[in-house]
Amino acid sequence: MAEGSGAASDAPEGPEGYDTYHAPIMAPFVGELLDAVDLRPGATVLDLACGTGFTARAAAPLVGPTGRVFGVDSDPDMVRVARDRHPRLYPDIEFTVAAADRLPYPDATFDAVVCQQGAQFFPDLDACLAEAARVTRPGGRFAATVWAPLDRQPYFLAQRRAVEEYGGPDAARHFARPFSGTAERLTTALRTAGYGDTAHREVTFGVALPPLDAYAPAHLATLWGGLIREAGGEEALTRAARLVRDQLADRVTADGTATLPFTAVLVTATR
Ligand SMILES: C[S@@+](CC[C@H](N)C(=O)[O-])C[C@H]1O[C@@H](n2cnc3c(N)ncnc32)[C@H](O)[C@@H]1O
Repeated sequence: MAEGSGAASDAPEGPEGYDTYHAPIMAPFVGELLDAVDLRPGATVLDLACGTGFTARAAAPLVGPTGRVFGVDSDPDMVRVARDRHPRLYPDIEFTVAAADRLPYPDATFDAVVCQQGAQFFPDLDACLAEAARVTRPGGRFAATVWAPLDRQPYFLAQRRAVEEYGGPDAARHFARPFSGTAERLTTALRTAGYGDTAHREVTFGVALPPLDAYAPAHLATLWGGLIREAGGEEALTRAARLVRDQLADRVTADGTATLPFTAVLVTATR
């Protein structure tokens, strides 16, 4: 990608792009999520809706060679990248393609189940959390993050305006999905599923994003390139990327980077 051109077409997209460009935003939340389930050496942990495996990869050194790490996701392309990019640390991570409401594990397998930014996409949250509860051992921990509402998240607000302006008539509905999870809905479903001791709190990090001239177009293309191209072709994607950068211009420092606040809701429970 030409520096500063706003073109996004050379950047990796799809799951490879997700793993590359979403990583800076997800990284601090992974640490918080794993802290919340208090992983110890020897523990067995499931990364539910693992995507390309950010959380599973971070869990592996915490549980160590006597622990076990599993990742499950319904999207085979996400799981392919998770397997490709797993650095083969010990313990090995077993990534599986399966839906969250039909988990291929015996009852009470896991000391901890974690789910980063996945629950808001589950078509039947109650059924998925019932499965999570089934595979969590008595006394085991559950933790999930979902994005907090957009109003205090300037980067996502800038993306939303660009996606809504250039992404066609369904863009607003698609963009709303990742922000549709709520602590109330999750804790209610967790209790119904058989978890207790539910709690939730907001977690905010100032994330130092890479130079925005290159990062913002690549990240936009990874998440929303398909929708925007379908609505208006490559030119629409270039304009949308420029709109993201223009909205954030006053936050960019001399080296081109920007440190922006991101907020998630962390929900925890005990089986
Ligand atoms: C925003 S991504 C989050 C991925 C990863 N946890 C992360 O932190 O980057 C949401 C993931 O949920 C997965 N997903 C959505 N519905 C699912 C379901 N019913 N069962 C399993 N995975 C699901 C998607 O395939 C996608 O990988």
